[in-house]
Amino acid sequence: MNKIILTLTAVMILSFAACAQNKGEKSMLTENKPLVVYFSATGTTAKAARTIAEVTGGTLYEIVPQQAYTSDDLDWNDKQSRSSVEMNNPQVRPTLKDTKLDVTAYDVVFIGYPIWWDLAPRIINTFIESYDLKGKTLVPFATSGGSGISNSVRELRKTYPNLEWQDGKLLNGSSRNAIQNWTSDVMKKQ
Ligand SMILES: Cc1cc2nc3c(=O)[nH]c(=O)nc-3n(C[C@H](O)[C@H](O)[C@H](O)COP(=O)(O)O)c2cc1C
Repeated sequence: MNKIILTLTAVMILSFAACAQNKGEKSMLTENKPLVVYFSATGTTAKAARTIAEVTGGTLYEIVPQQAYTSDDLDWNDKQSRSSVEMNNPQVRPTLKDTKLDVTAYDVVFIGYPIWWDLAPRIINTFIESYDLKGKTLVPFATSGGSGISNSVRELRKTYPNLEWQDGKLLNGSSRNAIQNWTSDVMKKQ
């Protein structure tokens, strides 16, 4: 009888240990922390992105165009400016400076951008098409001069229906506290 009890106890301890080890292995394969990628032409979205990375402990990554945008490029009053030409053509994909980011370890990717003509800048499309984001939760965030984020997210969903998009959030003037509350809700749902 004692032998049986001893054997049962040993089996239980071994299965608990195996279970704990499996959990350990899983957390080594997938990162619980998010990836926070952003494009910012004049620094506003960059600030929001830094706060998201700080409060979530996530990895911050800036999407940098090979050719930086000058202030002339950003002139929305000029129909011939680089940004106007890019935004008028849905096929344009501005080249990235770097495509060596390793996204494999992340389940959640925050993607930030300034609203340009009620849309995400085309370089966001270049980024999305340069990496394998399938199966990851994509969380857009944006800053703007007043426009909302919804239209840009609607377009991203339409263009990339196989990716998992959340509704995202406009972070114009959002406090660190507000960003912390929002991101912790997002991460809890994972
Ligand atoms: C080419 C261009 C187009 C823009 N279009 C819009 C727009 O449609 N709606 C809006 O509210 N703000 C618009 N803005 C303002 C930016 O979204 C806003 O200034 C943003 O916070 C800039 O972010 P950044 O500093 O990270 O580049 C536009 C700015 C640029 C340069």
